[in-house]
Amino acid sequence: MKEFSDKVAVITGAASGIGRGIAEKFLREGMKIVLADIELDALSQAEKELKEISPNVLTVLTDVSKIEDVKTLAQKTIDHFGAIDILCNNAGVGFANKSSTTIWENSLSEWKWIFDVNIWGVIHGIHIFVPIMLKQDSECYIINTASMAGLMIPTIGTGIYSITKHAIIALSESLKYELERFDGKIKVLALCPGLAFTKLTESDRNRPKELHHDITTNPELEQIMKAYQQSIENGISPKKVAEVLFQALKGEKFYIPTDHHRYLRSNVKKRMEAIIQDLQ
Ligand SMILES: NC(=O)c1ccc[n+]([C@@H]2O[C@H](COP(=O)([O-])OP(=O)(O)OC[C@H]3O[C@@H](n4cnc5c(N)ncnc54)[C@H](O)[C@@H]3O)[C@@H](O)[C@H]2O)c1
Repeated sequence: MKEFSDKVAVITGAASGIGRGIAEKFLREGMKIVLADIELDALSQAEKELKEISPNVLTVLTDVSKIEDVKTLAQKTIDHFGAIDILCNNAGVGFANKSSTTIWENSLSEWKWIFDVNIWGVIHGIHIFVPIMLKQDSECYIINTASMAGLMIPTIGTGIYSITKHAIIALSESLKYELERFDGKIKVLALCPGLAFTKLTESDRNRPKELHHDITTNPELEQIMKAYQQSIENGISPKKVAEVLFQALKGEKFYIPTDHHRYLRSNVKKRMEAIIQDLQ
């Protein structure tokens, strides 16, 4: 895509952090944007702020884990703007385990919630929007926000989250492969941010009531969480993530890291070498 002006972009998880950053960047580049988020107050606030840049903003209260909500999101997008050119499957939760450093000790409600949003949210996005894009028969993008964690050897205390992000990388690879053979007009990007200063460590604010669970933390986990919180606070800005993504839209790359390139390269190399070694 060479010209982005007037293109229509749907961004999930757009009321905060990386999604909010992408929304603002796209709007400043002359696009029309649809902000989808589960958090009503934050969504209204984002709408108010972004409309000061341009009136081409539509907000749709959406829980990406619910297929009916994503259907409504698509319908409202088409009714309002007449098309969809870019889908950012960005909404995500979790990051760090809540009750234990190990995946076997985490509650099943923890697994369910993070899978529902991080994986099912993306599945719902592609299930609803890809057929619309194919019917349009125009150049489109699907951008899935995975993470640096989706490429790397897992780190302690982030097991469930990392698993969902590895899944998003695999899902994006499959989607890219299938769309290239099938159509060729829809491009797929796997956005792999490093640590960005957002509200990700406060994801619990959006946990559904029925998936709440008692948090029985321990000193080791608390220590790890503190370190992660610090790293997030020292992370890059959502604005920077959005800049990197926008540049990537003009290029040919599929995996889009935003920072930590050298660390990421060595970690991925180690992982791949371990796989190759066992294939001898
Ligand atoms: N912050 C980081 O360091 C980092 C690094 C790599 C990847 N990511 C990924 O970036 C994406 C955005 O996260 P962020 O860091 O900006 O966090 P954030 O909490 O600031 O933003 C996430 C947004 O998603 C929304 N959301 C949560 N559940 C939802 C649901 N069920 N339906 C719709 N919206 C929902 C939240 O309300 C929030 O507005 C996530 O997929 C996250 O995994 C973040």
